Amino acid sequence: MSIKAIAFDAYGTLLDVYSVGALAEELFPGKGPAIVTTWRDKQIEYTRLRTMCDRYADFWQVTGDGLDYACALHSVSPSAEQRATLMQAYDRLAAFDENHAQLTRLKAAGVPMAILSNGTRAMIDNALNAAGLGGLLDHVLSVDTVGKFKTAPEAYQMGPDAFGCDASEILFVSSNCWDICGATWFGYHTIWLNRAGLPMDRLGVEPMARGQSLKDVADYALASFSG
Ligand code: LAC
Repeated sequence: MSIKAIAFDAYGTLLDVYSVGALAEELFPGKGPAIVTTWRDKQIEYTRLRTMCDRYADFWQVTGDGLDYACALHSVSPSAEQRATLMQAYDRLAAFDENHAQLTRLKAAGVPMAILSNGTRAMIDNALNAAGLGGLLDHVLSVDTVGKFKTAPEAYQMGPDAFGCDASEILFVSSNCWDICGATWFGYHTIWLNRAGLPMDRLGVEPMARGQSLKDVADYALASFSG
């Protein structure tokens, strides 16, 4: 099966959501890793609840709400300044080191590329620019446009609409297994970038391919690209 374009998830896939852990640890010694893990889990849980109940609030809002919950659960009371510092760090998340070389390789081969993310347009742009990746993507697709988070079909539909081809001709890349399951169900050609070496979710659906690094993804994409 050949592909004509690539759509990347952002958080966890190109941007390291746990890179804020060092800052959280500095602010709240001994609790940093627990706080960022709860923060991420709650952030994603809130995207699902809000989409299921048709109560959309953007990713900046649910990210802040997830942080507040994590602080309450782990019994820390950040000052307004500490909270703002953590949120700002989330707005400038570290990108994985390999990204630039691999995205540049794909761009040089003429592969059209997009980000398809739950993040707001401003959050994605800030993070991509901070990581020096801004100019490498053809489309930045934020679910803010449709007011529903992934895994809603309306969110995934933005990929085929942007590229003007069928979802099955687009390689969808995510490190988040739930996102890979949703994208596969939707009809994308999927590759799970399993950075953390996690087991596959038990949902009765499998990605077309798997990799452990963005280099694996780029190798697969270049071998499958038909222009
Ligand atoms: C994204 C997050 C949810 O959509 O990983 O970028």
